[in-house]
Amino acid sequence: MITVFGSINVDISVAAPRLPAPGETVLGGESLLSPGGKGANQAHAARRFGAGVCMAGAVGDDAFAAPALEQLVAAGVDIGGVASVAGQSTGVALIVLDAHGENTIVVAPGANLAASAAQLSDQQLRDSGALLLQLETDVAASMALARRARAQGCKVIMNASPLDQGLRLDPQAVDILIVNEDELRQLASGAGVADATPAALAAALAGRYANEVLVTLGAKGALLADAGGKVLTAPAFAVEVVDTTGAGDTFAGVFAAAIAEGEPRERAMLYASAAAALACTRRGAQAAQPDRQQIEQLMASQAHATHQSTQQGESA
Ligand code: RIB
Repeated sequence: MITVFGSINVDISVAAPRLPAPGETVLGGESLLSPGGKGANQAHAARRFGAGVCMAGAVGDDAFAAPALEQLVAAGVDIGGVASVAGQSTGVALIVLDAHGENTIVVAPGANLAASAAQLSDQQLRDSGALLLQLETDVAASMALARRARAQGCKVIMNASPLDQGLRLDPQAVDILIVNEDELRQLASGAGVADATPAALAAALAGRYANEVLVTLGAKGALLADAGGKVLTAPAFAVEVVDTTGAGDTFAGVFAAAIAEGEPRERAMLYASAAAALACTRRGAQAAQPDRQQIEQLMASQAHATHQSTQQGESA
Protein backbone atom coordinates (compact mmCIF):
# COMPACT_ATOMS: atom_id res chain seq x y z
CA MET A 1 0.00 0.00 0.00
CA ILE A 2 1.21 3.52 -0.76
CA THR A 3 0.03 6.93 0.40
CA VAL A 4 -0.06 9.92 -1.93
CA PHE A 5 -0.25 13.44 -0.48
CA GLY A 6 -0.81 15.97 -3.23
CA SER A 7 -2.93 18.03 -5.56
CA ILE A 8 -6.35 17.22 -6.92
CA ASN A 9 -7.55 19.28 -9.90
CA VAL A 10 -10.05 19.44 -12.68
CA ASP A 11 -8.20 19.81 -16.01
CA ILE A 12 -9.75 21.86 -18.80
CA SER A 13 -7.72 21.14 -21.90
CA VAL A 14 -8.03 22.42 -25.46
CA ALA A 15 -6.24 20.92 -28.43
CA ALA A 16 -4.83 23.57 -30.78
CA PRO A 17 -2.64 23.46 -33.89
CA ARG A 18 0.12 25.18 -31.88
CA LEU A 19 0.69 26.82 -28.51
CA PRO A 20 -0.20 30.55 -28.56
CA ALA A 21 2.61 33.13 -28.34
CA PRO A 22 2.24 35.88 -25.68
CA GLY A 23 -0.66 38.16 -26.64
CA GLU A 24 -1.88 35.80 -29.35
CA THR A 25 -5.23 34.03 -29.67
CA VAL A 26 -5.25 30.65 -31.38
CA LEU A 27 -8.45 28.89 -32.41
CA GLY A 28 -8.45 25.40 -30.95
CA GLY A 29 -10.45 22.24 -31.42
CA GLU A 30 -12.27 20.04 -28.99
CA SER A 31 -12.09 20.84 -25.28
CA LEU A 32 -11.98 18.19 -22.57
CA LEU A 33 -12.88 18.45 -18.89
CA SER A 34 -11.23 15.64 -16.93
CA PRO A 35 -9.80 14.84 -13.49
CA GLY A 36 -6.15 15.79 -12.95
CA GLY A 37 -3.67 17.21 -10.47
CA LYS A 38 -0.22 15.73 -10.04
CA GLY A 39 -1.09 14.03 -6.75
CA ALA A 40 -4.35 12.53 -7.97
CA ASN A 41 -2.77 11.45 -11.27
CA GLN A 42 0.05 9.68 -9.42
CA ALA A 43 -2.40 7.99 -7.04
CA HIS A 44 -4.50 6.81 -9.99
CA ALA A 45 -1.45 5.49 -11.87
CA ALA A 46 -0.29 3.52 -8.83
CA ARG A 47 -3.77 2.04 -8.36
CA ARG A 48 -4.01 1.06 -12.05
CA PHE A 49 -0.68 -0.72 -11.58
CA GLY A 50 -2.30 -2.74 -8.80
CA ALA A 51 -1.20 -1.02 -5.58
CA GLY A 52 -3.53 -0.26 -2.69
CA VAL A 53 -3.54 3.56 -2.58
CA CYS A 54 -4.60 6.08 0.04
CA MET A 55 -4.97 9.64 -1.30
CA ALA A 56 -4.66 12.70 0.95
CA GLY A 57 -5.23 16.25 -0.24
CA ALA A 58 -8.02 18.80 -0.45
CA VAL A 59 -10.86 19.87 -2.72
CA GLY A 60 -13.19 22.85 -2.42
CA ASP A 61 -16.94 22.86 -1.77
CA ASP A 62 -17.80 23.74 -5.37
CA ALA A 63 -19.18 21.90 -8.40
CA PHE A 64 -15.69 20.71 -9.46
CA ALA A 65 -15.05 18.68 -6.28
CA ALA A 66 -17.02 15.61 -7.43
CA PRO A 67 -15.61 15.41 -11.00
CA ALA A 68 -12.07 15.91 -9.60
CA LEU A 69 -12.46 12.78 -7.44
CA GLU A 70 -14.70 10.53 -9.51
CA GLN A 71 -12.00 8.61 -11.37
CA LEU A 72 -10.02 7.98 -8.18
CA VAL A 73 -13.13 6.51 -6.58
CA ALA A 74 -13.95 4.44 -9.67
CA ALA A 75 -10.41 3.00 -9.68
CA GLY A 76 -10.64 2.02 -6.01
CA VAL A 77 -8.32 4.64 -4.49
CA ASP A 78 -9.12 5.25 -0.80
CA ILE A 79 -9.97 8.99 -0.64
CA GLY A 80 -10.49 8.96 3.13
CA GLY A 81 -7.56 11.38 3.48
CA VAL A 82 -9.12 14.02 1.21
CA ALA A 83 -10.54 17.11 2.97
CA SER A 84 -13.38 19.26 1.68
CA VAL A 85 -12.54 22.88 2.44
CA ALA A 86 -15.50 25.24 2.93
CA GLY A 87 -15.38 28.46 0.93
CA GLN A 88 -12.53 27.30 -1.32
CA SER A 89 -12.48 26.35 -5.00
CA THR A 90 -11.26 22.97 -6.20
CA GLY A 91 -7.93 23.20 -8.05
CA VAL A 92 -8.25 23.89 -11.77
CA ALA A 93 -5.62 23.43 -14.50
CA LEU A 94 -5.94 25.19 -17.86
CA ILE A 95 -4.11 23.15 -20.48
CA VAL A 96 -3.33 23.92 -24.12
CA LEU A 97 -2.22 20.96 -26.19
CA ASP A 98 -0.42 21.29 -29.52
CA ALA A 99 -0.47 19.00 -32.55
CA HIS A 100 2.58 17.08 -31.25
CA GLY A 101 1.02 16.31 -27.87
CA GLU A 102 3.14 18.93 -26.04
CA ASN A 103 1.36 21.26 -23.63
CA THR A 104 1.42 24.36 -21.48
CA ILE A 105 -0.37 24.27 -18.13
CA VAL A 106 -1.46 26.97 -15.67
CA VAL A 107 -2.83 25.79 -12.33
CA ALA A 108 -5.16 27.69 -9.98
CA PRO A 109 -4.39 25.64 -6.84
CA GLY A 110 -7.41 26.71 -4.76
CA ALA A 111 -8.07 24.22 -1.96
CA ASN A 112 -4.88 22.28 -2.70
CA LEU A 113 -2.91 24.81 -0.66
CA ALA A 114 -5.06 24.05 2.39
CA ALA A 115 -4.09 20.35 2.43
CA SER A 116 -2.37 19.64 5.74
CA ALA A 117 0.08 17.02 7.01
CA ALA A 118 -2.29 16.48 9.96
CA GLN A 119 -4.72 14.73 7.59
CA LEU A 120 -2.50 11.63 7.80
CA SER A 121 -1.89 9.74 11.04
CA ASP A 122 1.44 8.19 12.05
CA GLN A 123 -0.28 4.79 11.86
CA GLN A 124 -1.22 5.47 8.21
CA LEU A 125 2.41 6.32 7.45
CA ARG A 126 3.66 3.20 9.28
CA ASP A 127 1.28 1.07 7.20
CA SER A 128 2.50 2.56 3.90
CA GLY A 129 5.29 1.08 1.79
CA ALA A 130 5.96 4.55 0.42
CA LEU A 131 4.76 8.15 0.74
CA LEU A 132 4.62 9.93 -2.62
CA LEU A 133 4.76 13.74 -2.75
CA GLN A 134 4.89 16.50 -5.41
CA LEU A 135 5.07 20.32 -5.26
CA GLU A 136 1.54 21.47 -6.14
CA THR A 137 0.48 21.54 -2.48
CA ASP A 138 2.05 23.62 0.30
CA VAL A 139 5.74 22.70 0.32
CA ALA A 140 6.10 23.20 4.08
CA ALA A 141 3.24 20.73 4.66
CA SER A 142 4.88 18.19 2.32
CA MET A 143 8.27 18.54 4.02
CA ALA A 144 6.70 18.16 7.48
CA LEU A 145 4.99 15.02 6.28
CA ALA A 146 8.21 13.69 4.74
CA ARG A 147 10.05 14.03 8.07
CA ARG A 148 7.21 12.36 9.97
CA ALA A 149 7.00 9.53 7.43
CA ARG A 150 10.71 8.83 7.71
CA ALA A 151 10.48 8.76 11.50
CA GLN A 152 7.77 6.10 11.08
CA GLY A 153 9.97 4.00 8.79
CA CYS A 154 8.08 4.91 5.59
CA LYS A 155 10.11 5.50 2.41
CA VAL A 156 9.61 9.02 1.01
CA ILE A 157 9.50 9.57 -2.76
CA MET A 158 9.08 13.11 -4.05
CA ASN A 159 8.40 14.22 -7.61
CA ALA A 160 9.88 17.75 -7.39
CA SER A 161 7.44 19.25 -9.86
CA PRO A 162 6.57 22.02 -10.51
CA LEU A 163 9.85 23.37 -9.19
CA ASP A 164 9.04 27.09 -9.00
CA GLN A 165 8.28 26.70 -5.30
CA GLY A 166 11.47 24.66 -4.89
CA LEU A 167 13.36 27.12 -2.75
CA ARG A 168 11.81 25.71 0.42
CA LEU A 169 12.54 22.17 -0.65
CA ASP A 170 14.63 20.00 1.69
CA PRO A 171 15.82 17.11 -0.50
CA GLN A 172 17.63 15.55 2.44
CA ALA A 173 14.23 14.63 3.92
CA VAL A 174 13.46 12.58 0.80
CA ASP A 175 14.69 9.06 -0.04
CA ILE A 176 14.13 9.20 -3.80
CA LEU A 177 13.79 12.51 -5.66
CA ILE A 178 12.16 12.29 -9.11
CA VAL A 179 12.83 15.16 -11.55
CA ASN A 180 12.85 15.80 -15.28
CA GLU A 181 15.97 17.13 -17.00
CA ASP A 182 14.99 20.83 -16.60
CA GLU A 183 14.24 20.35 -12.92
CA LEU A 184 17.53 18.48 -12.48
CA ARG A 185 19.47 21.38 -14.01
CA GLN A 186 17.59 23.94 -11.86
CA LEU A 187 18.33 22.00 -8.68
CA ALA A 188 21.92 21.40 -9.71
CA SER A 189 22.60 25.05 -10.50
CA GLY A 190 21.01 26.03 -7.15
CA ALA A 191 23.48 23.64 -5.52
CA GLY A 192 26.40 25.12 -7.51
CA VAL A 193 26.81 22.11 -9.84
CA ALA A 194 26.61 22.74 -13.60
CA ASP A 195 27.96 21.84 -17.03
CA ALA A 196 27.73 18.10 -16.71
CA THR A 197 25.73 15.21 -18.14
CA PRO A 198 22.40 14.33 -16.48
CA ALA A 199 24.04 11.24 -14.97
CA ALA A 200 26.87 13.29 -13.44
CA LEU A 201 24.47 15.97 -12.16
CA ALA A 202 22.16 13.36 -10.64
CA ALA A 203 25.09 11.58 -8.98
CA ALA A 204 26.41 14.89 -7.61
CA LEU A 205 23.01 15.79 -6.15
CA ALA A 206 22.44 12.29 -4.74
CA GLY A 207 25.85 12.51 -3.04
CA ARG A 208 25.05 15.93 -1.61
CA TYR A 209 21.56 14.99 -0.39
CA ALA A 210 22.52 11.45 0.71
CA ASN A 211 19.58 10.06 -1.23
CA GLU A 212 18.74 8.77 -4.73
CA VAL A 213 17.94 11.02 -7.70
CA LEU A 214 15.80 9.63 -10.51
CA VAL A 215 15.71 11.65 -13.75
CA THR A 216 13.12 11.23 -16.51
CA LEU A 217 14.67 12.07 -19.88
CA GLY A 218 11.73 11.82 -22.31
CA ALA A 219 12.74 9.95 -25.45
CA LYS A 220 16.08 9.07 -23.80
CA GLY A 221 14.45 7.05 -21.01
CA ALA A 222 15.38 7.54 -17.36
CA LEU A 223 18.33 7.20 -15.01
CA LEU A 224 18.75 6.81 -11.29
CA ALA A 225 21.87 7.81 -9.35
CA ASP A 226 22.57 6.87 -5.74
CA ALA A 227 24.73 8.63 -3.17
CA GLY A 228 27.64 6.31 -3.94
CA GLY A 229 27.68 7.43 -7.59
CA LYS A 230 26.14 4.24 -9.02
CA VAL A 231 23.86 4.99 -12.02
CA LEU A 232 21.06 2.75 -13.34
CA THR A 233 19.27 3.42 -16.63
CA ALA A 234 15.95 2.48 -18.24
CA PRO A 235 15.02 2.86 -21.92
CA ALA A 236 12.12 4.87 -23.32
CA PHE A 237 9.37 3.03 -25.22
CA ALA A 238 8.40 4.16 -28.71
CA VAL A 239 4.70 5.04 -29.06
CA GLU A 240 2.57 7.39 -31.12
CA VAL A 241 2.23 10.50 -28.97
CA VAL A 242 -1.23 12.10 -28.69
CA ASP A 243 -1.05 13.93 -25.33
CA THR A 244 1.89 14.09 -22.89
CA THR A 245 -0.24 15.52 -20.05
CA GLY A 246 0.38 13.48 -16.91
CA ALA A 247 3.06 11.23 -18.42
CA GLY A 248 5.51 12.25 -15.67
CA ASP A 249 2.82 11.59 -13.06
CA THR A 250 2.22 8.14 -14.49
CA PHE A 251 5.96 7.45 -14.25
CA ALA A 252 6.13 8.57 -10.60
CA GLY A 253 2.99 6.70 -9.51
CA VAL A 254 3.97 3.41 -11.12
CA PHE A 255 7.57 3.69 -9.91
CA ALA A 256 6.44 4.28 -6.30
CA ALA A 257 3.96 1.41 -6.48
CA ALA A 258 6.60 -0.98 -7.84
CA ILE A 259 9.16 0.08 -5.20
CA ALA A 260 6.59 -0.39 -2.42
CA GLU A 261 5.94 -3.84 -3.84
CA GLY A 262 9.65 -4.66 -3.39
CA GLU A 263 10.68 -4.53 -7.04
CA PRO A 264 14.36 -3.70 -7.65
CA ARG A 265 15.05 -0.13 -8.84
CA GLU A 266 15.81 -1.12 -12.48
CA ARG A 267 12.60 -3.14 -12.83
CA ALA A 268 10.53 -0.37 -11.21
CA MET A 269 12.00 2.15 -13.69
CA LEU A 270 11.14 -0.14 -16.58
CA TYR A 271 7.50 -0.48 -15.45
CA ALA A 272 7.33 3.30 -14.98
CA SER A 273 8.87 4.07 -18.36
CA ALA A 274 6.48 1.75 -20.20
CA ALA A 275 3.48 3.15 -18.29
CA ALA A 276 4.49 6.75 -19.06
CA ALA A 277 4.82 5.93 -22.77
CA LEU A 278 1.35 4.38 -22.85
CA ALA A 279 -0.07 7.41 -21.02
CA CYS A 280 0.97 9.57 -24.00
CA THR A 281 -1.14 7.60 -26.46
CA ARG A 282 -4.54 9.00 -25.38
CA ARG A 283 -6.07 12.37 -24.38
CA GLY A 284 -6.29 13.27 -20.70
CA ALA A 285 -4.22 12.44 -17.65
CA GLN A 286 -5.91 9.71 -15.60
CA ALA A 287 -8.06 8.48 -18.47
CA ALA A 288 -4.90 7.63 -20.43
CA GLN A 289 -3.17 5.61 -17.70
CA PRO A 290 -2.63 1.92 -18.48
CA ASP A 291 -3.22 -1.07 -16.22
CA ARG A 292 -0.49 -3.54 -15.32
CA GLN A 293 -1.34 -5.96 -18.10
CA GLN A 294 -0.98 -3.25 -20.76
CA ILE A 295 2.33 -2.15 -19.21
CA GLU A 296 3.70 -5.69 -19.21
CA GLN A 297 2.56 -6.21 -22.81
CA LEU A 298 4.52 -3.16 -23.96
CA MET A 299 7.57 -4.29 -21.98
CA ALA A 300 7.39 -7.72 -23.58
CA SER A 301 7.07 -6.25 -27.09
CA GLN A 302 10.03 -3.93 -26.53
CA ALA A 303 12.13 -6.78 -25.10
CA HIS A 304 11.32 -8.73 -28.27
CA ALA A 305 12.32 -5.78 -30.53
CA THR A 306 15.55 -5.22 -28.58
CA HIS A 307 16.39 -8.92 -28.78
CA GLN A 308 15.71 -8.96 -32.54
CA SER A 309 17.84 -5.90 -33.28
CA THR A 310 20.68 -7.32 -31.17
CA GLN A 311 20.53 -10.55 -33.13
CA GLN A 312 20.48 -8.68 -36.46
CA GLY A 313 23.44 -6.58 -35.31
CA GLU A 314 25.34 -9.73 -34.30
CA SER A 315 24.79 -11.50 -37.65
CA ALA A 316 25.63 -8.42 -39.79
O1 RIB B 1 1.12 16.77 -14.59
C1 RIB B 1 -0.11 17.04 -15.21
C2 RIB B 1 -1.03 17.72 -14.25
O2 RIB B 1 -0.49 18.97 -13.91
C3 RIB B 1 -2.40 18.01 -14.80
O3 RIB B 1 -3.30 16.97 -14.58
C4 RIB B 1 -2.78 19.31 -14.13
O4 RIB B 1 -3.84 19.19 -13.23
C5 RIB B 1 -1.52 19.80 -13.43
O5 RIB B 1 -1.59 19.59 -12.08
